[in-house]
Formats: sequence, C-alpha cells, structure tokens
Amino acid sequence: MLAISLQSVLALIAAATLASASPRLDQRSQDASTKSGPLGLNNVKCSDVTLRTSITTQNFDFVNVIDNYDSSDYVTSTFLAFTGRNEQWVAEHFPGTRSPVSSSFTLRGSYCEPIRGAKKGSSLLLATHGIGFNRSYWRYPYKGPEYSFVNHAASYGYSSFIYDRIGTGKSDIPTSGGFSRMQSPTEVGVLTNILEQARNSNVIGGKKHARIVGIGHSYGSGQTLAVTSARPELLDGVALTGLTPATEYVPDTIYSGAYTPMREIAGIENRNRPRIWIATGSRTSLVQNYIDPDNADAEAVNIARRGEEGVTLGIYTTLGNIASPAPAFNKPVLVLNGNHDLPFCGSNCERTVPPLPEGLRAIYPAASNFTSIIIPNTGHGIAVHRSGPDSHEILLDWVISNGL
Ligand SMILES: *[C@@H]1O[C@H](CO)[C@@H](O)[C@H](O)[C@H]1NC(C)=O
Ligand SMILES: *[C@@H]1O[C@H](CO)[C@@H](O)[C@H](O)[C@H]1NC(C)=O
Repeated sequence: MLAISLQSVLALIAAATLASASPRLDQRSQDASTKSGPLGLNNVKCSDVTLRTSITTQNFDFVNVIDNYDSSDYVTSTFLAFTGRNEQWVAEHFPGTRSPVSSSFTLRGSYCEPIRGAKKGSSLLLATHGIGFNRSYWRYPYKGPEYSFVNHAASYGYSSFIYDRIGTGKSDIPTSGGFSRMQSPTEVGVLTNILEQARNSNVIGGKKHARIVGIGHSYGSGQTLAVTSARPELLDGVALTGLTPATEYVPDTIYSGAYTPMREIAGIENRNRPRIWIATGSRTSLVQNYIDPDNADAEAVNIARRGEEGVTLGIYTTLGNIASPAPAFNKPVLVLNGNHDLPFCGSNCERTVPPLPEGLRAIYPAASNFTSIIIPNTGHGIAVHRSGPDSHEILLDWVISNGL
C-alpha cells in the first residue's frame, strides 16, 4: 500500500473526489438478523475441494532483506522502516524490478451448493478471504448459520467456492521465501489460476462454471481487483468488501498490529507455523485492526483470535503494488465497507466527501454498475460483527439485482 504505488493511488482518489457527487449511502440496521432468501439458511451442502496450482509469476525483486527471517526484532525493524522511512526503505530494498518465479501449491477449499432450488444460470460466487483469516471467514463459525455467507448465498439458490489462501488453514504453508515467494503477485497468480480452473475444468463442483462473481475481503478484494485489471474476462462482476484506495492508514494498522512471529504468540491455535508467518501480537491488536468492539460479540472476536492466520513481510510490503486501474472491466462492481474500518479508512469511512470507498470508482471507469455501500457500526472484519448477517444479505441483494 505504501511503496511505489502510493502516488498513483492518491491521484486516483483525487480524480474520484472531483468526478462524483456525494451519494446517499444505504444505512442498514445494526442488529444481527436472521433474514435469508426463500430457501432458508440451512439449505447448504459443502464438499472439500483440492486444487493444484503450478504458476509462474513476475515477482518483485527485494535486495538486502533476510528472505527467511526468523526474529521478531527483524520483523519490527522492517515495519518501522517501511512505515516511518518509506522512501528510504523503498530505495534500499525495493528496486521495483521483477523476475519470474515458479511455484506449485496445493490449495484446499469448499464448494458449497444449495441442497435444493439451485438457481438456473446463476454465477458461481468465488470468495477470497483477507489477512488473518482462512476460508471460514465466509462460513463464520459463530452462532448459527446467520454469520455464514455461504448459507445466505444458498438460501437464494447460489453456489459458492471458498478456499484457504496459501499459508492459511489446510492449504500449503510455505516454510521459506517470506519476501521472494510469499508476496502479492504470487497470490494474484494463484487466484487467476483458480479462476481458469473453475471455468475450464470440472475440479470445482464437478462442472465448468461459465459465470463467476469474484468476492473479496480486504487483501482478497485487492487480489480480485488485480484480476479485473489484468484478466477482466475471468470475472462477471466483483464485490469488493473491506477495501478503499486509501493508503494513509496503513502505518496505523502496522503499528497497532504489533506483528509478531506466530511461534511467539500465546493463545492462538496456529503457533506451529513456519517462522516467516507473523500475526497480530495480541487480542487487542487484532481488535484494533479488525473490529469495532462496541458492535461485535466478544465470543465472535475470540473465535477470530484463536484461529488467527498469518501474513509475511513480503505480502505486507507489496500489497499496494497490485492495485492498478481496470479500464476494460465493464461489468458490475460493488464496494462494501464497514464505516469504522481502520486499515482503509482510519476508523471513519465517511470522513471525506464523497466517502473514501467511492474512490474505487475511478479504477472502474467502464463498470456497467458501480455501487458503494457503507455499513454502519462495523469495523474492517465485517463478517465478525453483529451486522455481519445483514452485510451478507446486502451483498446477495446486489448479486441478484444485477442479474449475476
Ligand atoms: C480457520 O479460522 C477459524 C476462525 O476464523 C478457526 O476457527 C479455524 O480453526 C481455522 N482453521 C484452520 C484449519 O486453521
Ligand atoms: C445497479 O445495482 C443496484 C444494486 O446495487 C441495483 O439496485 C440497480 O438496479 C442496478 N442497476 C442496473 C441498471 O442494473
């Protein structure tokens, strides 16, 4: 988010600010609801999917870094320099050049389909989670099915595919290459490959999927956006949640996150992760980055904390470099954010006119329908909040009303 793309992204925000009048955004109820589609929230059946990807991606070269870092002080010193002395850090470590890197990964996911009432001709909803979570962000294991996006989708007859991003859940967890391999271009390459397999093979749900809506949360939205720039034909619509073009709150997020090698963190399940994997240093750090604590149940947050997943320095320092305009993407775009999002809005998405998420409109000049919605009383990790069930309904309402 920082590094070399900062200037261009800020220019995009400025353009968007000039170009669009302030929209009246939806204001929805803050209470968890059990609203659903006509088929009800128990109409889903999920099966395990194993995908193998072999990709070659143009990765960023890093110089003078420890690729297989294993010390928490190195992590801290890198973040302090990346945030506090960004230009100097970029000059010393990030030449901006790229080299091909070949990778093979095994990914695990779930294909979740309606038990009955599958909607004819409907798109596959292919969802990519963000940092700190795994595929269960979309099937959130709190309370009943109302917190689970895939259950809401099936209640309207839609099928979903959710997967553990590399380094999380049951997918491959690389033990090395914290800068050189585990960085954003690799993951955009993985998502691109998954979409190709979904369209051209039977590996997901035993059939080819002719129409696919890309759904993302946070970094998963950034990856989905990157696909709409480079390979617009792979997606029929995108719903980007937890994403704005603003980069100025990234340092706050890094500081509050107090990122620490997972091996050194007490109270999380995934303490056995290889040393390149880091996570927020405490429950407080997780809450600051992801949650509006007045508006999420403590047990829902505890679940996120216990199961927290990791990230690498390479991912964090290249996140901003995958967001480029998508002038050829001429299909519907939804941008959905919690109004108290820290990483992308500094805890107030409506601090500007038009609100920050609107800035993504400039990236999609050809979108057939651009909708930006801000959910009240919600932080960055939208699905964990009491508004989570409503946000799932809002997203599906957009899918259906856009004929996807
Ligand atoms: C995935 O994350 C959830 C919490 O979001 C956690 O409960 C679960 O244990 C994690 N799964 C794996 C395989 O790590
Ligand atoms: C654009 O999307 C909104 C929902 O986000 C919907 O209400 C509206 O009907 C859509 N417009 C068109 C022309 O499809």
